[in-house]
Amino acid sequence: MEAHDIVVGLDIGTTKTVVIVAEINNNDSFTIIGVGEQPTQGVKKGGIVDLEAVIKSISQALEKAEQMSGCRVQHVYLAVGGAHLSSINNKGVVAITNRNREITADDVDRVLQTAKVVALPQDRKIIHIHPRQYTIDGNDGIIDPIGMAGARMEAEINIVTASSNALQNLLRCVHKSGLQEEELVPAPLASAEAVLLPDERDLGCMVVDIGGGTTECAIFDQGRLWFTSVLPVGGNLITNDVAIGLRIPVEVAEVIKVEHGCVLTDLMPDNEMISVPDMVGRDTKKVSKKVLASIIEPRVREIFSLIKNELKKSGYRGVLPGGIIITGGVAQLNGLVELAAEEMDLPIRIGYPDKISGVSETVRSSAFATAVGLVLYGVKNLAYGQAAPTGERFFGGIISRVKHLFEDFFA
Ligand SMILES: Nc1ncnc2c1ncn2[C@@H]1O[C@H](COP(=O)(O)OP(=O)(O)OP(=O)(O)O)[C@@H](O)[C@H]1O
Ligand SMILES: [Mg+2]
Repeated sequence: MEAHDIVVGLDIGTTKTVVIVAEINNNDSFTIIGVGEQPTQGVKKGGIVDLEAVIKSISQALEKAEQMSGCRVQHVYLAVGGAHLSSINNKGVVAITNRNREITADDVDRVLQTAKVVALPQDRKIIHIHPRQYTIDGNDGIIDPIGMAGARMEAEINIVTASSNALQNLLRCVHKSGLQEEELVPAPLASAEAVLLPDERDLGCMVVDIGGGTTECAIFDQGRLWFTSVLPVGGNLITNDVAIGLRIPVEVAEVIKVEHGCVLTDLMPDNEMISVPDMVGRDTKKVSKKVLASIIEPRVREIFSLIKNELKKSGYRGVLPGGIIITGGVAQLNGLVELAAEEMDLPIRIGYPDKISGVSETVRSSAFATAVGLVLYGVKNLAYGQAAPTGERFFGGIISRVKHLFEDFFA
């Protein structure tokens, strides 16, 4: 299959590495034709701790996806996660000097270049910039300024930055696996792409992807990205608590958590018991589901108190009428919606990456939000790329236009 007919996402999560191959159809829709999933080795809390192990995880996931799709993958939309991710909002202003004062693509480039100038510490790199809105001669809320007339244009952008060392490690693993990054996509943005409804983005909402090692947060306001951050907490902490609390091996605790876990202790009856093996696996003992829930609940409440903190720290002063959309593997935990609503005092729903068609039902699980989101992002980028007619330039035009701003980095 021709390379330009496919879009591929690569998400190296703390617990699993996923490669999704999508085929672009003639009408700009797409079909998922290959999925490769492999437990990740060598990543802790979203950060790479063993290069060789990660390369192996990528290669194995890649092989599965290539086999299923019958495609040879070379370029991937690559998710960047990890607690080193952060974002800032910034502005830039330029004067429009053409004789007819009509704003051109070059003017947009210039204003984005100006907006992107921020004092960054040596060890940080810009991985993504997200134009939020343009203001022309005082009129704000403009999404696509090209062709409009004006004398002074201002751009507001969200800049996502990452640790240079963490990025270098990530890219080394990807390159050693024989792949090249088409574009780096902040993991919280990819998850948002997969699960958010347009209305939620417009109203103002927060997406929270709770994975094995990290909790990724992104706030959207008036349809555009406002804030991104990643917390080093996730489902692995819950599993460890269960292992310690019940004195059982971690692998057993993981299975018990996924099969019987619930976060609402008060609602659990005392008399529903489960059998668990002891530490050495020789005997089994009975544990009530209520006890299991009483171990899980405080940890999940703690995660939500950290999310609440993040929301405060973001400086966002809106009320988020779109609510909080929770995704990631941990979103599947029983009772999570009720607990989150209580902790956050906002409308809550679970986000599933279901805007897709194709081979695999598995990817409709919340655990695949990031990987599916990468493909959706890539498809939009292709469909509305540089060659897009006016009016369809909205999303992809912005992407293709900002892409070259990173050329120094991708070189
Ligand atoms: N049904 C379930 N109930 C509760 N927890 C679950 C369930 N299914 C998966 N999980 C938990 O979800 C976590 C994995 O989530 P996910 O696959 O989104 O993580 P990841 O993307 O690999 O990691 P990260 O994004 O943190 O780097 C694990 O802790 C796992 O135990
Ligand atoms: Mg993840």
